[in-house]
Parts: sequence; structure tokens; C-alpha cells
Amino acid sequence: MIVLDKERKLITLHTQNTSYQMKIWDYSVLLHTYYGPRIADGDLSCLLRPWDRGFSPNPNEAGDERGFSLDTFPQEYSTCGVGDFRLPSIELELPSGSRSADLRYAGCEVRSGKYALEGLPAFYGSEEDWQSLSVRLTDTAAQVEVELLYGVLEKYDLITRSVRVTNRGDRSVKLCRCMSLCLDFTRADLDMITFNGAHVMERCPCRSPLHPGFQSVESVRGASSHQHNPFAVLCDRNADEDHGLCYGAMLLYSGNFLAAAERTQFENARLVLGIHPYQFGWVLKPGESFTAPEAALVCSPAGFGQMSRQFHRSIREHLIRDPYRGRRRPVLINNWEATEMRFTAGRLVQIAQEAAGLGMELFVMDDGWFGARNEDNAGLGDWVVNETKLPGGLDALVKRLKALGLAFGIWIEPEMVNEDSELYRAHPDWVLSVPGRGPSRGRQQLVLDFSREEVRDHVYGQIHAVLSSTEVAYVKWDMNRSLTEVWSAALPPERQGEVYHRYVLGVYDFAERLRRDFPQLLLEGCSGGGGRFDGGMLYYAPQIWCSDNTDAIDRLRIQYGTSFCYPVSSMGAHVSAVPNGTTGRVTPMETRGVVAMSGTFGYEMDLNKCTPEEKETVRRQTEWFKEHYELIQNGDYYRLTDPFQNGPYTAWEQVSPNKREALVSLVTGPFRGAPPLLALCIKGLDPALRYRVNGEGSWPGDLLMNAGYPLPLLKGDYRSLQLYLQAE
Ligand code: GLA
Repeated sequence: MIVLDKERKLITLHTQNTSYQMKIWDYSVLLHTYYGPRIADGDLSCLLRPWDRGFSPNPNEAGDERGFSLDTFPQEYSTCGVGDFRLPSIELELPSGSRSADLRYAGCEVRSGKYALEGLPAFYGSEEDWQSLSVRLTDTAAQVEVELLYGVLEKYDLITRSVRVTNRGDRSVKLCRCMSLCLDFTRADLDMITFNGAHVMERCPCRSPLHPGFQSVESVRGASSHQHNPFAVLCDRNADEDHGLCYGAMLLYSGNFLAAAERTQFENARLVLGIHPYQFGWVLKPGESFTAPEAALVCSPAGFGQMSRQFHRSIREHLIRDPYRGRRRPVLINNWEATEMRFTAGRLVQIAQEAAGLGMELFVMDDGWFGARNEDNAGLGDWVVNETKLPGGLDALVKRLKALGLAFGIWIEPEMVNEDSELYRAHPDWVLSVPGRGPSRGRQQLVLDFSREEVRDHVYGQIHAVLSSTEVAYVKWDMNRSLTEVWSAALPPERQGEVYHRYVLGVYDFAERLRRDFPQLLLEGCSGGGGRFDGGMLYYAPQIWCSDNTDAIDRLRIQYGTSFCYPVSSMGAHVSAVPNGTTGRVTPMETRGVVAMSGTFGYEMDLNKCTPEEKETVRRQTEWFKEHYELIQNGDYYRLTDPFQNGPYTAWEQVSPNKREALVSLVTGPFRGAPPLLALCIKGLDPALRYRVNGEGSWPGDLLMNAGYPLPLLKGDYRSLQLYLQAE
């Protein structure tokens, strides 16, 4: 619910459990007065006290009123160069050469439903579920208008934000920074949690207290990156899974980003989140607008668990689009780890045959099916079927798969090109590269300039032809290097600061074309595993390959970190062969299955090489997953332990919304002598119900929640256990 209180000059956004307030203050400065647990009514500006602080200047209109400074009051959207020395949200380069921005409130409007952002991903939904607010700010000297957009999804405590900047003057201005979100706190005793990592070890949580000055995570790789995720949490110092106030902020964007927090001299804090200002500069001609990508906030007064569940529900129901919104994804078999690029149609069918017999539904042919692609130094850019490997083309293969009862999926990497390709030989000027410098190679490939429409048109034309040539149910869209030499031959020098963002807009345009032309297609995002795992891609691709690391024990950590923002149904996870290709570790098939089925679930190995017992396990796992899909993928998710603590086991749980069903999954670490006999407290049950556990006993919910379930002793390393609870 959005409440405009004209008399007290308040704008308040209420969700089920939280309230967010701003106030139009003296001289029309828009202050941020509150964000936290829900407050029925009240003017929270009572918490702000004007105070004359040394070296904190006063706006010109304030005359000798020395207690009022942009530097000390919490701002709704911070300005630049006019007295607030904290993190700016916007920076303009004006025709005079001045780099400043000063904003004053000019009006607002509330409507039912959710605003949309042209060409950009955004949460969506019905008029019953959403309300939107638009707040207009103006910089009169610069003749620039800034529209702050808010969407309120009351039932899930989600508040979205975006910003549209319009040049209302008669000369061009350059937008040098445009954050999607600015959030001021009148306290600084907060921890910041960010999700960091590397290729094959993505999204590991890192928690540290805010220290005086700035702390940030960011990507300048052109993609959201393996190294840092565009999601961050600020929370009480003692917040945990079930207690404490915490604020999660995600950015729906797949390119360069900055998430920065500042603890100020007077023990306040500020968080900004948006496109990274690194090499960013967007020219706005008179009348033109720029729209910042959407950010989304969840405030949870009851710990990280509730925050995550609200993000999960919002993403599943209001970001993932039809036809895969809420729908079960096919259990798939992917040939990559089994064959890499060395395959023939016969070899693929061999793998498919075994998979079909064990209950799999979709065969995914990975890298290596096109052009001269036999190794990773050639072929990218030539999206034409290699008929030496696949005689009769795709259709012949698809017919054989169909006869086995399998749907067909295919791998593509549309943004890239090898120098050894027909495409590069014909259009060497289509890659990102700086005049006079040879472009850097990554995995022996160069990056196509996806900011250019004709480049996208060409690649799309080829891929469209392939996808139209036969029945394709699924596409895995990969991206296997970071961007360098980001310069476009199609733009003048003063517009080169637009290339990074135009590239991302190009990626979104390409994805949207696929959705338009192949509405039934299931798109899986991928970037060397989880290098582009973000809310932006999820708008187009309901699932994203979580990591190239398929080791079940490392995956416990990767999936744990990922789950802070993103739902199980978005995490691409497969069972692969042992010893694992990345870690060399050997884990039981049962354990690999338990871990992968807390993701989209599939296999990535040659099942012909499994023992009869292993095959039986695979068959059971597949059957179990299909049967319990609703609970596993759409249930409420609870993290029961933290795998980074190196405890005796890692456990997590899904509970159905009506609490009549739950699935607890547990994986042990290395076995040690003299083990303790442990009980596991199960969360989120109905204390008044009684449950059968794996079909046995009659366990009171309150007992399971408060005293726990006695865990059996599992001898051996990396064993697993699933407890299926059903209310009587
Ligand atoms: C990336 C992906 C893998 C696989 C290879 C193919 O690394 O993450 O899953 O598709 O590319 O080259």
C-alpha cells in the first residue's frame, strides 16, 4: 500500500511486514526517513535533528540556517557536487563542463499495477498484486528531470526501484553515474554480506562489519561475473537465519555493476547499487531519457531465511515468465562432461538411450556441433551444423532422440567469435577492439560487438535458422570470457562510454527475440558456469547453470551462497561422474543426486559407464524428483546449517506452503572417529501437526522443531540422507 500524506508531506510504502518512508523537507529536498519493520502511522522525520556540523555545507536557499545540510540528512537519492560528500547516486556533465547534480522534489503519482522498463528486465504482475509510485525530481539549473520509480509487491515485502533521467534542456548533457538504488540508514552498526568467488567457486558469502569509509563489490568485466554477484545484504551485527533485521538488495542487471556501502563520520550508512560508473558516460540529447536497470529490496525483520524466501517467491512468481513460471523443468542429460567436443551422432544417441531408459526427458547437445568446432580455438560464430559429426543434420538426430522419448536441447554462445571462423574472416571489424591495439583473447575467442544491431541480426539469423530446422525444446546460452577493449566501431568518441551498457541491452534484445520467436523454448543461462547469474538473466532464462564445478561437496557451498537471493528452481545443477573433473573428489551417486536435485536437476555423464546399482540409483532419483518436484522447487527454502562452518554435515530443507510436507536433505563431511549422536531441529513445520518421517513414526511437529529428529550415524565420507515428512 502506498500512502501519500499531503499535509505532512510524507510518502509511505507499506508491505505486509515492512514500511518505507520519504519526506519532502524544507527547500523541497526529498529525505529518506525510514525503512524497517512495519509501522502503522507516523512521521519518522521525528528521528532527524538539525545540527550544525563543521565542514558540512548548507544549501544556498538555506541562508544562515546552519543545521540543514545535504551531507548530514538521509537522502532518498543522493546528489553530487552540491554539499553531500557521501556516495553519489547521480553525476551529470553539463554543457558548461560542470559535473554536478542537485535535485528537488517536483511531484509524484501512484497507480495500481507494476511499471515496466522498455528493453530491460523487470519484475511484473497484476494490478491486484502491485502498486507503483513515480516521484519526480528536477535539477533546474541543469534542466534535467529525474523520475524515481518504485514498485510495491506487498505480499512478499518486495520493493523495486528504477530511475529515469530525462534531458529537458536544449543542449546535450552527459550522464556519468546513475545508480538504481540509494538507501540511507540513520545507523551504521551494520554488517555487509556480499557473494564473492571465482570461476568454479561462485557466490561464497563474505560478511564484515561496516567500517568507516567505503566498502564495495563490483564487476567491470562486462558481465555480472563469477567474482562478485549483484546482490548484497546489510544486517544487524547479530542477525542470523532466524533473527535480526536484514536488508537484501539485488540488481536485475547482467553487466558492470557497483554495490557500495559507506559508513559515515556521524555513524550513518548509505548503500548504492547500480551500473558501475567505470567507463560509463551516456549522452542525453534534448528530450532523450536514460533508464537505469531495476533494483529490488526485501527487508526482513526476522533474519536471512525470511529475506531469502521472499526473494524466492517474488522471483519465481513475478520475474520468471511463462511458460516456465512455476512449471516443472525436464530432467535432462547433457553430454559435455562425457564427450566434450569429441562426439558423433552415434555416440550421443548411445548416451541418450541409456538416459531415456532411466527416466530422463531431455537430451542436451553441448558445445562442438557447429562449424569447424573440434577444439575451442575454432568455429565460434559459424552457427551451421557440422554434418561430419551429425550426418543428415539436426533433424536426423532429433528424430532418433524423439524415438527414444527425449526432447532436444542445444548449446550456443552467440556473443563470441573465434578468429578461425567464417564470420571473423568476413567481418573482423565486428569484434570489440580498440583502434591500434590487438584485441585480448580469452579462451581463444573474441567478443562480438553486441551493441550493434547488424551484428546481432546476423548471428540471430543463423541461430534462428538452426532452431527452426527441427524441434528444439531448450537452449543453453553460454558466454565464456570477460569483455576487454570495450570500444565500438559504430559509435563516435563521445559515445564510447555507452558501449558496455549497449552491449547488455543487445544481449537482452537477443534473448527477447528468442522468446518472441520460440515461445515454448526453455532458455538456460550460462557463463562458464555461474559468471552471469543475476536477476537480469532470470527474466529471460528461468534457470542458469550455477557453476562449472559439479563436485557435490563444493556445490553445497556454491548453492548455499546462491540461495540467499535466488530460488532452487533457478539453479542449474547436474550429477556428474567421479572422480570429479574439477576437484578429483569421489562422492557416492546418492549424494550427488541429493545435491543436484536442490537445483534444476539433470545428469552430465555417460550413464553407460555406471554399474547396475548406480543406474538403479539414478532411476530412483529421477523418479523421486519428478514426484516431489512441487515441494523441491516451489517449497519454502530453509538453510539449516552453514557449509562454510565445516560442521559434521550440511543440511537444508524445503517445506510446502501449507506445511503438510517437508524434505530435509543432509550431506556429511569426512567421517571422524567417536562421532557425536546428533539431533537435527527441523524448521518451518506446523507445531500442532504430527508427521511421518520417511513413512514411519508419528512425530509431533513441535518436537521435531524444538528437540529435533535423531539422526542415524552415517559411516563413510560424504554420505547423504533425505527425510521426507508428511503430515498425518
Ligand atoms: C562452459 C560451460 C560448460 C560447457 C562449456 C562448453 O564452460 O559452462 O558447461 O558448456 O562451456 O564449451
